[in-house]
Amino acid sequence: MPEAMTAPMGDGFEQAARDAVYRAMFTRRDVRSHFLPTPLEDEVLAQLLLAAHHAPSVGFMQPWNFIVIRDAARRAEVRDLFLAAREQELPAVVEERQALYRKLKLEGICESALNICITCDRERSKGSPLGRWHNPEMDLYSTVCAVQNFWLAARAEGVGVGWVSIIEPKALKNLLSIPEHVTPIAYLCVGRVSEFAPKPDLETHGWGRRLPLPDLIMSETFGGQGEAPLKSTASRLNGFVVERACAADQRVAPAVPQREPPNEASALSFNSRNFDDASASLASQAGSGTWPAMVLK
Ligand SMILES: Cc1cc2nc3c(=O)[nH]c(=O)nc-3n(C[C@H](O)[C@H](O)[C@H](O)COP(=O)(O)O)c2cc1C
Repeated sequence: MPEAMTAPMGDGFEQAARDAVYRAMFTRRDVRSHFLPTPLEDEVLAQLLLAAHHAPSVGFMQPWNFIVIRDAARRAEVRDLFLAAREQELPAVVEERQALYRKLKLEGICESALNICITCDRERSKGSPLGRWHNPEMDLYSTVCAVQNFWLAARAEGVGVGWVSIIEPKALKNLLSIPEHVTPIAYLCVGRVSEFAPKPDLETHGWGRRLPLPDLIMSETFGGQGEAPLKSTASRLNGFVVERACAADQRVAPAVPQREPPNEASALSFNSRNFDDASASLASQAGSGTWPAMVLK
């Protein structure tokens, strides 16, 4: 890729920092099977929650709350909700795929270090619906942005996150004493992991595959043809950028990082001590401007 295409513009990050951002995106995984029985330090969890709390939100509403669930008995009850919901979902799956569905591991509720339920308080900006008058659901989307921030920060910290949506929401609300006007958005299994799989589990097990990006790009209107140069650039870079990030990731990233003892100044800084060295060494291995410069695939 020509150097000019990857050079930072304006306030853009330097190459190693950009590489780290894309690496987090391309190597983030939904984790269900590789949780370790290691506790998660509050210092790390606080940092992930801080990342989530800096997500964008409609009207700066910040509608989220973070329920931290550690109690084994309560988690077992959530797992029962999952098992019941899975049985209810199963008949909706086409018959040929039901056997595969049954085999898939779709949660790590009890094995992970802890669970977090991220909720959306639909009344937090009552009376001042900036950005929500026509689109009241924007508070839900804002909370999803917080989930994604949490997920990416967790990847950079070497922490696995698995999202469990196969749960009947009313039953979950009841179990976690969530009030009527608050919506549970994401139930997450969170903890240290032995590895991050190079591909989505559902791809590995033949459930699905990533769609080709060019097929999803439209021009001017929905379904509009065009943007041929953009699509062919996407095709050309597809795989190269992502696979290279994943391969490099496996060479350098320990799943359980060695952390320095916390001190006050570093405790809540945004410098990821897990990712930084690895990213810097990758940038020097790869030579500046050679990989993740665009989000693809
Ligand atoms: C809104 C949402 C709900 C999800 N619910 C589940 C779930 O209930 N069980 C599960 O195993 N994975 C769940 N996932 C994870 C997806 O299966 C996963 O993101 C997808 O297969 C791609 O894999 P990757 O995240 O590792 O890239 C969910 C993901 C999202 C975004």
